[in-house]
Amino acid sequence: MLQTIKRFLELIRPIRWRILAGTITALGSALTALAIPQVLQRLVESFRLSPSTTVVFTAAALVLGLGLLEAGLLWIRRLFSAGPATGLERDMRVELFSYLQRLPVGFHDAWGSGQLLSRAMSDIGQIRRWVAFGLIMWITSTLTTVVGVALLAFANPLLALVFLCGMLPLGYLAYSFVATFQHLSRLAQDQAGDLATTVEQSVQGIRVLKAFGRGGHALEGFLEQADELRSTEIRKATATARFDAGVILLPGLTLGVCLFLGLHFVASGSMNVGELAGFFATAAIVEGPVRMIGMLFGQAIGMKTALDRVDEVLDAPVTITDPDSPRELSTPRGEVELRDVSFHYPDARGGQVGLLSGVNLHIRPGETMALVGVTGSGKSTLLELIPRLYDVTAGAVLIDGVDVRDMRLSDLRSMISVAFEDATLFSDTVRRNVLLGAPWPCAADGTPLPEAEGRAKLEESLKLALATADANFAYDLPQGLDTPIGEEGMSLSGGQRQRLALARAIAAAPSVLLLDDPLSALDTKTEERVTESLRRVLEKTTTLIVAHRTSTVSLADRVAVLDEGRIVAVGTHDELMHTSERYRFIMANLQEEAANNRNINEYAREGEQ
Ligand SMILES: Nc1ncnc2c1ncn2[C@@H]1O[C@H](COP(=O)(O)OP(=O)(O)OP(=O)(O)O)[C@@H](O)[C@H]1O
Ligand SMILES: [Mg+2]
Repeated sequence: MLQTIKRFLELIRPIRWRILAGTITALGSALTALAIPQVLQRLVESFRLSPSTTVVFTAAALVLGLGLLEAGLLWIRRLFSAGPATGLERDMRVELFSYLQRLPVGFHDAWGSGQLLSRAMSDIGQIRRWVAFGLIMWITSTLTTVVGVALLAFANPLLALVFLCGMLPLGYLAYSFVATFQHLSRLAQDQAGDLATTVEQSVQGIRVLKAFGRGGHALEGFLEQADELRSTEIRKATATARFDAGVILLPGLTLGVCLFLGLHFVASGSMNVGELAGFFATAAIVEGPVRMIGMLFGQAIGMKTALDRVDEVLDAPVTITDPDSPRELSTPRGEVELRDVSFHYPDARGGQVGLLSGVNLHIRPGETMALVGVTGSGKSTLLELIPRLYDVTAGAVLIDGVDVRDMRLSDLRSMISVAFEDATLFSDTVRRNVLLGAPWPCAADGTPLPEAEGRAKLEESLKLALATADANFAYDLPQGLDTPIGEEGMSLSGGQRQRLALARAIAAAPSVLLLDDPLSALDTKTEERVTESLRRVLEKTTTLIVAHRTSTVSLADRVAVLDEGRIVAVGTHDELMHTSERYRFIMANLQEEAANNRNINEYAREGEQ
């Protein structure tokens, strides 16, 4: 708890003066509100003793003035706190987002996107509400209650005691309502998130669902989730209804008892009518803050959970970082070497320990090396070790003789570009997707080209990359290269997406190009065309290309065979066909697999129709 308070104070440090000003104005408005019953009490008494219109007008003007003052102060309080709190919310979101960018891929493997989304959105939103409203209201409610109860006790201690006894359960009721409600809200949010994920997945996987005739099954699962969400919403409504009833009933009962006793006191002469009126006006004001304290207490617990949840992400270690004294490569040649590289995933199951163990591989500058191996042998993993998406567990990856861990991450990654197995695109235009990694063109001496010239050069590399990837469809789209390609590029076919991802890797003009089976989704004809033009680009760039087909292997100068965590053979295709039995076995397997995949694709397309 102390830790949370410390963290919270640290968080609001930059806006502490505005929060303090907000608290002071809020206190001012609360005390003004409490002053109104005092005026009322005196008005009633003096009017009873000597009825005159002057007394009424003076008092009415006074009450009106106090009311206006209270409202004005409340308004100023909002001005003080709302602006900085939304600024704080924005800063926290930016901090979380940029931290998520820095966290290694291994972190994202372990965390669901829904979890991160709810932390970035609802948890940070909850913290903002607490800063803008909760904290200040908590302080003012507590003070109003203390001063109010003191005023009540001063007017009549016994009545004040009765009032307090009635109010305590109200505070507790408010607290337990907020605690329950927040729990249910979070549950409803998670369930709504799950439901959204289900919709998303079944829309994305509609082809598979249809092909396997599992549409009905998917609907059953969806219905179950929808029912769960509905029952949570009903529980929320029930909790609110109970609270509303309590909020009306408890103060009503308490004030009823107080009135009964109060009238008795007035009748017996121990209290005058003015005091009784003042008592009730004050009690009516104090009732709000008591309820508020309870609610805010519940909210404070929710805020603590929210803060902890955000910190859980911010405290996750960034394991892949820049070295203390980075080494620079002035003109990279693009030589890649894996020296005794071992690797296993942190959450590796028993059998997988040592996914890669003692891998040695040397790719010469400008060379194209194909990497083959049976499925699950670790080819994609090996590729990901080069731009340090994961760090090796032993050994080293070197570029031009420099350990990648000794380079600045930004330098390393601008040297390398990757086309992953699954072509991840962004909901943006074709142009911006392809130019994602492209550096702003520079003159020979390294100075960035001026705007117009730079743009023209970018456009050139875009065209070259697209032509290499044979993305003719990109020009035929309704708005050409400026066509938005829908969420994650889902409005494109698998093959089109894959070609855009290939174009993106080429447009970045890297020294080292890593291609993970980049033509797997293409039909034979397109594949031939792309292979032909890709050959020209590969001539100049060091490339490691994971190959699942002989046509892709034909692009390579040499082929490396990955088997049981090691490179077991390296050589040209012809050499290996003669010398390596393992290579012959893998190639035979790959051809069979490719034929099966074609059948599945055709089957799926039929199912879609
Ligand atoms: N992020 C991850 N976390 C844990 N294990 C992983 C992760 N990614 C892959 N693996 C495991 O590592 C092994 C190798 O995976 P990898 O994707 O490198 O194989 P691959 O050779 O590329 O296979 P394919 O030919 O099917 O693409 C597999 O057993 C896989 O289950
Ligand atoms: Mg793979």
